[in-house]
Formats: sequence, C-alpha cells, structure tokens
Amino acid sequence: MIETEKLQRVAQAGAQQHCVDPACGARFEINERLYVCPNCGGLLDVVLEAYAGADPEQLRTVWTSRLASFDPRDRSGVWRYRELLPFAADAPIVTLAEGNTPIYDAPASAAYCGLNALKLKHQGCNPTGSFKDTGMTTAVTQALILGARTVVCASTGNTAASLAAYAARAELQCAILVPRGQISHAKLAQSLDYGAAVLELDGNFDDAMRVIRELAEDESIYLVNSINPFRIEGQKTVAAELLQQRGWRVPDHVVVPGGNLGNSSALGKGFKELKNLGLIDHLPQLTVVQAEGAAPFASLFRSDSDVLKPVENPQTLATAIKIGAPVSWQKARRAVLESRGSVLSVSEQEIADAKAIIGRDGVGCEPASATTVAGIKRLVASGTIAPDTDVVAVLTGHILKDTDYAINYHQEKLFTPDRSAGKTKRERRLAGTYRNPPARVQATRAAILEGLRRHEQQRDEA
Ligand code: F0G
Repeated sequence: MIETEKLQRVAQAGAQQHCVDPACGARFEINERLYVCPNCGGLLDVVLEAYAGADPEQLRTVWTSRLASFDPRDRSGVWRYRELLPFAADAPIVTLAEGNTPIYDAPASAAYCGLNALKLKHQGCNPTGSFKDTGMTTAVTQALILGARTVVCASTGNTAASLAAYAARAELQCAILVPRGQISHAKLAQSLDYGAAVLELDGNFDDAMRVIRELAEDESIYLVNSINPFRIEGQKTVAAELLQQRGWRVPDHVVVPGGNLGNSSALGKGFKELKNLGLIDHLPQLTVVQAEGAAPFASLFRSDSDVLKPVENPQTLATAIKIGAPVSWQKARRAVLESRGSVLSVSEQEIADAKAIIGRDGVGCEPASATTVAGIKRLVASGTIAPDTDVVAVLTGHILKDTDYAINYHQEKLFTPDRSAGKTKRERRLAGTYRNPPARVQATRAAILEGLRRHEQQRDEA
C-alpha cells in the first residue's frame, strides 16, 4: 500500500520561498504574501527541501496509479503530481482538469524541419486553450489560501483568459489589464464571457506589467502574473507529465516560445527537480525561441552581457509574445544555461510558414507557438541539431486563439508590423508560402468537382 498522503505531507513540511539571487539568498515562509524578494527585489523560487529524500520508484508508481482514478485531483495533469507542489493535502484546490495534454507525432513538421521525427506537446489543449491553465490552478488556489478577494494580471490575452476562468470557478473578483487593440478577439471574448473586469490600457504589455506591480501593494489584491512563484509551480508539472507520457525517456531537446519567460523558467525548474529526485539522470536541452521584433532574451544570449536589455517598442504579429521586458529572464537564463540549451529568434515569415505546416499535421496552434518549429528548422539547417535527434516542441496555444491571423495568412493579407521602417504595404506583406485560400464555387456537382481538382493541383504545386 502506497502512502500517498504521507508522501505529500513530507513535501509540504519543507516548502519555502527563496530569493533567486545567490548574492542575497533570503528565505521566506511559504505563505508569506510576496512576489519578489523584499530585501533585494529579486525573483522568488518555491523550494521543497524536505522532499529531496523521496523514492523515485514510489513516485512513479503513485503517479501511474492516479491515471486510473476519478478523484478530481488525479484527473488534473497538475495536481496528479502534487508531491512536487507546495500545498498541504487539504488545500482548497481550484481545478478545471487542466493539463492532460497530448504529445503528437508530427511528420509534416518533422520533414519541414529536416528531422526524422518531431513530437509536439500541445498545451493548447488545456481548458482555456493555452498552457497558462497549468499555472493558474495553483496560483488561484494560493489566492484562496491567502484570503485574497481580487485577483489581477497584465496579459497579452492568454493569462487573462485563464485567470478569468479560474477566478470564476473560485468565485473571486478578477481584473485583467490588456494592451488595447493588441490582443486577439478570441482571448478577449473568453475573458468577457468568464466575467472578468476587462481593463484595456493605452500602451503595450510592458506598460501594463509596470502598472500592475504597483496595484499589488494593496493587501486584498493578489497578482498572478508569472512573476508569482505559485504560477511557476503549476507550470513546472508539465515536465513530469511529458516525461511520464514518454515512459521517462528524456528527450534531447525541449523547445518553447519565449515571451515573459515564465514557461521556460517553469519547464527548467520542473526538469531539474525531477533530476534531483532521481526520476531522470540528465536534463533535456532547453531551447527558447522568440519573435525577431521582440527578442531581448535572444539578444542577451548573443551578447557577452549578463544583463537583459529590454526592447523599447516590441513588434510581432504573434501578439502573445509581444513583450520587450520579460520579468522572468533571470530564471529562464539559469534554466537554459544549466541544461546547455540555446536561445534564438525567428522572423515573421518563418513563424507564419511554420504555423501553416503545423496545421498540415492536423494539429494547429496559435502564432506564438509556431516559433518552436521555425526555430528547430533553423537549428537543423545550421547543424546544431542532427536529423536523428529526439526533439519535443511545446505548442503553447490553440489554433482557435487567433483565427484572424490564420485566415489572413491563407489569403496573403498578413502584413508585418514594422511600419516605422518606412516600408510600403506591399513590402510588408508576408508570403502565403503554404497558403490554402477558400475558393468560391457555384452550387453544382461539376463546379464542386472542379474546385476539388484545383485544390489538389494547388497543393501539389506548393
Ligand atoms: N505562447 C503563448 C500562446 C502565450 O500566450 C505566451 C505568453 C507565450 C507563448 C510565452 O510564454 O511568457 O511564459 O514566455 N503569454 C502571456 C500572456 C504573456 O499574457 O498571456 P512566457
């Protein structure tokens, strides 16, 4: 008989918050309401020290047994791994059965990249259509524990939609700050439907992020951007789910898009903790891909500097990652360096084409997620990744998150955002390299058959 509750109590006993800056190293109680270190302003990590002695075989067995359980905690692809989380067994869990996302084999994307095979872990299959749900379940649970009445975030759309949903479940007031006119309609629609106070800000995401940090000084308000270490805790469990799905075989590379850099920080933390626990014996190389016009993290890795230089006016059609001053860059940098990974940026055209190819695998994703396949293609072309390498790309958002982008691509009506460069509209137009535009046909059998024939011909030519 496996004593799962005992396992979990052990996990809670040593939970603390640690400042990530080694020069500071301050430690705080797990339920102290903090976002950054009060001593030095550094980011905070949740650390579960007491759990270090756990038996990896026992953990594997427990986690496997939960796959056959109907307990809501076990149905969640986050709380299933609750031994890794800093919550007591009686925590008031707010869950929408998040996680449980598939890993797809993607032959069209693999061929496009020049790989023998490529796997896509589709985090867009979460309840609100993005990976944010895996961190929101833990952050909103922590909001209840701390007695917050209102939860807030700044967002490029997905964090907002996710928070709005989880706040509705928890019956908490929710306010989201989004850059006006710069988030997709689908994401806005979600937040409205889930009942959040939607505050549209004149400015970009970085402006929203700055304002929101001031708001969080109010005791009744709880901030749940990825600066919040409890978000990262939920998001890190994706590492465990991914490895469990692969029979604990560690991939050579795990590739993620980079925006505010919470996701890469979380995955890095997840893999590292699993290694420390003895569940795996080495780390996958973590690769982060940014959009060229919003790539301060890629620039940091190209330079010999230790400090990220924000991009003043970030630009990309992948609005989810239109971020110039990512808050979690130090944690993400640590994760990339520890895993001997890499960081790169890709162009708007590369993102658009990669997205269309992912669609051809029958998978689909939102533009930000397609940076992964675009980045892998580059790394294979440069010889950094060999064709027989075991690569997993993490798709972060669902294709229905940004249908305007998809429709415009297929009709060659996508224009890059670099107006300041003095380019004409024609010069800014992205090629619909893998376009699949709709065709108008008359309502006759012959016209439909002709339409089908033409479609086949166009695909062969592409
Ligand atoms: N992909 C999607 C679909 C996203 O929504 C985001 C971030 C990212 C990638 C980048 O992840 O920030 O952890 O590096 N979206 C945030 C939001 C900023 O507000 O929804 P990251």
